[in-house]
Amino acid sequence: MIEPLGEGEGLVVETEFAGQADGLGEEVLGIAVMPGWIGVGARVVKLIVGVLTQPYTFAKTCEPVAPFLVVHEISFARRGRSSSKKRCGPVSFYFDGGISRSICCAEWCSLKRTPFVRILILTLSMVPFSRPFHYPQPGGALHCGKVSIEALAKRFGTPLYVYSADQIVERLGLFQQALKGREHLVCYAVKANSALAILKLLAARGAGFDIVSGGELERVRAAAPEAVDRVVFSGVGKTTAEIDLALNAGILQFNVESEAELGILAGRAAKLKKRARFALRVNPDVFAETHPYISTGLREHKFGIDIRQALRIYKSVAGHRWLEAYGVSVHIGSQIRSAEPFGAAMERVSKLVGQLRREGIVLKAIDAGGGLGIDYHGGVFDAAAKVAEYATAVGRALDGFEGRLLLEPGRFLVAQAGALVARVLQVKRNGKKTFVITDAAMNDLIRPALYQAHHEIMPVRPRKGRVRAVDVVGPVCETGDFFARDRELRPIEPGDLVVLLDAGAYGMAQSSNYNTRMRPAEVLVEGAKARLIRRRETMADLLAPEMI
Ligand SMILES: Cc1ncc(COP(=O)(O)O)c(C=O)c1O
Repeated sequence: MIEPLGEGEGLVVETEFAGQADGLGEEVLGIAVMPGWIGVGARVVKLIVGVLTQPYTFAKTCEPVAPFLVVHEISFARRGRSSSKKRCGPVSFYFDGGISRSICCAEWCSLKRTPFVRILILTLSMVPFSRPFHYPQPGGALHCGKVSIEALAKRFGTPLYVYSADQIVERLGLFQQALKGREHLVCYAVKANSALAILKLLAARGAGFDIVSGGELERVRAAAPEAVDRVVFSGVGKTTAEIDLALNAGILQFNVESEAELGILAGRAAKLKKRARFALRVNPDVFAETHPYISTGLREHKFGIDIRQALRIYKSVAGHRWLEAYGVSVHIGSQIRSAEPFGAAMERVSKLVGQLRREGIVLKAIDAGGGLGIDYHGGVFDAAAKVAEYATAVGRALDGFEGRLLLEPGRFLVAQAGALVARVLQVKRNGKKTFVITDAAMNDLIRPALYQAHHEIMPVRPRKGRVRAVDVVGPVCETGDFFARDRELRPIEPGDLVVLLDAGAYGMAQSSNYNTRMRPAEVLVEGAKARLIRRRETMADLLAPEMI
């Protein structure tokens, strides 16, 4: 981990926005350069940076580059002798008090022995800060970490889900690091992406799991049986069979969503003679800005128990032989970008915990749920700063609570680590509209159709030419089968590969066989290696459960 530079450290003197370039975003970024990266005796006097939202071709170098951050020009003053063709080491960019890491291999233009300011055009290897997908070589093909997407598509076919194990592990580490001052357990929300290999990866690094069905419990047992006692079980409609399964497995906590469910849990626990640890999932009546389908924290939603009823219910089962009031849980929704509603929900929960303590009911855990959102658009997204802000908001509200803090992040851990790779089948013009038809469809990734979700689309091998607005669609027989509408993309031809970014969460997990389409294969990239973690479905798989 690169340490943030202190104020005044580094070599920055001035930053400026090169607004005249076509395709540049509007953000002006404060930037600092690691001491020494530009070479002994050099001093940066000016950096011109911008955020690209679309691939962009440098006028001078004619290299198409990926979206995200580009350093356009560096002016520098140079003392001493210069040598030509130097390579720069890693550069760290410092934004808004947070640090975003980028491994940049910047080529120097040749330097003549000129004593003072020269302008360099640098093409950095664009490692998007929040995603592992990047073009390591200007004009080259897209990679996931060190692995070529072209090579993966050739080896495993398309549509194909590709995930970066390194990023998933890094994201888990951000939460663990941010909470290291208090007892905690990060329970990954299995529903976001339930691939066994991902569950195993996370379990090995100490994660627990948030499940919402008996099926998800079976997945945890298959991938990491040793992690069963780190499982919390949420969901508004648990069947008795699922409750029995979880009781017998010895999970950590049932997140109970109604008084009736608590009664059923008590009955099953007594029958099986297994003491059940439970948390009431309370509904704090907090509004969180997100899509209405994934907002859960208001009284009008089906989730949880009205927080005003919770005290009474806890008291009603105090001293129960088969029920242990272990914690309280809350989950206000998904894809929430601001930390504030999490803090507001926790304040209400904290108040409840205090009231319970005064009644002699001492809870051991507070489960803050999941829901921290990511940025699905291009641009700079500082995941570490987001997690720190979130952990501060949650932690501040729980001041004085000595027990264990549980979190249930899903999307934040896996969304940006994953992408859906598709091949372009046809480019079709209907009147003024141009449709790019891919071999992936809404059955593979339903988020755009279901939530009008935005996914950035990157060509695996960018072509030169003018940007134009196109619809990117799949072959399924629904007008709702689209990935993007009127999206400005550079020219795309049949046979090209494109990648839909940020598809690691609620992508494969929500896929279906609609139109009798076989679900994609999944690949996990670890360092320089890629391995198949789910083979592509076959027609035999699809027909197997049916009878005529
Ligand atoms: C109870 C519960 N916990 C955690 C999550 C994970 O949410 P996210 O993926 O937004 O972090 C969900 C998602 O809906 C949920 O319902």
